[in-house]
Amino acid sequence: MAPLPCTEKLRCLWAPLLLWLAFLLLAVELGTADIYKDIELVWGASRTYFFMDGDSESLALSLDKSTGSCFKSKAMYLYAQIDLDIKLIEGDSAGTVCTVYTISEGPWEIHDEIDLEFLGNATGEPYTLHTNVFANGVGGREQQFQLWFDPSADYHTYSIIWNPKHILIQVDGVTIRDFKNNEAHGVAFPKWQQMRVYGSLWNADDWATQGGRVKTDWSKSPFVSYYRNYNVTWCQPSAGVDWCGNEPAGSRHFDLDQKAMSDLAWVRQRYMTYNYCSDYDRFNASTLPKECSLP
Ligand SMILES: *[C@@H]1O[C@H](CO)[C@@H](O)[C@H](O)[C@H]1NC(C)=O
Ligand SMILES: *[C@@H]1O[C@H](CO)[C@@H](O)[C@H](O)[C@H]1NC(C)=O
Ligand SMILES: *[C@@H]1O[C@H](CO)[C@@H](O)[C@H](O)[C@H]1NC(C)=O
Repeated sequence: MAPLPCTEKLRCLWAPLLLWLAFLLLAVELGTADIYKDIELVWGASRTYFFMDGDSESLALSLDKSTGSCFKSKAMYLYAQIDLDIKLIEGDSAGTVCTVYTISEGPWEIHDEIDLEFLGNATGEPYTLHTNVFANGVGGREQQFQLWFDPSADYHTYSIIWNPKHILIQVDGVTIRDFKNNEAHGVAFPKWQQMRVYGSLWNADDWATQGGRVKTDWSKSPFVSYYRNYNVTWCQPSAGVDWCGNEPAGSRHFDLDQKAMSDLAWVRQRYMTYNYCSDYDRFNASTLPKECSLP
């Protein structure tokens, strides 16, 4: 057989490659992610292991007296939805903190961060989900919640939804927190620095459980928490808009829906145990963060 002409040969070689490329771009576009491929271990690697749990690639983080463990996403994101299923330490978890958070990598003084920290507790006592948001280096926006289920009995889905108008925290699709973009009122909002996703398990018995009164019982170690179904979806702008950062000013695209609003009211009434905006031992009328007096 005569050799293919050069151009034809190229086409033959390139066609499947281009198809693959298109597929990869599509995969990136759809934002499917995989905990094994898309994260890397940062510290305590010898205390972690990947395993198959049914169809799901899962990661176990563990903590003993010498070290905890931590992973981070390989990619960084600017406006995205991050979903992760977590099953927390069973039994006595007092003194431990299990986290999932996003953080930017620029100078600390201007960093952005969105935190979920599960503060352990004695056997049978409830975990506290501690949340915080930093924008342009300023945090101090803690809200704490108890959950309406035992988070160590099974996996539950924890989500961070970050778009130009809101940062939402969801638990099994229930919105528990909304940090609004109030830039128009002079409140900083994360909108230009990419953030990386982290998950970790560490010892914080100097403050975590009942204010540091209950210490980690090392005879119960190693403590193990499990992560699976890591899924990052890029923020979807409305039709005809190229990316979320360019959503037109008057757009209602990211407005909260009725469900999110009623979720927030329900959680606030029943499960919120701390809100910085109503901490009058900490703030007075002149030091209360500005967003606290905005609708
Ligand atoms: C632990 O349980 C106690 C008693 O139920 C509760 O007051 C506390 O908020 C719980 N959480 C933490 C992190 O201490
Ligand atoms: C990832 O999250 C998106 C957005 O919520 C959802 O549409 C998609 O089905 C999820 N993918 C997987 C593999 O769970
Ligand atoms: C509020 O607290 C700040 C510092 O904590 C103090 O300097 C200020 O006088 C207080 N203002 C009022 C109105 O009490």
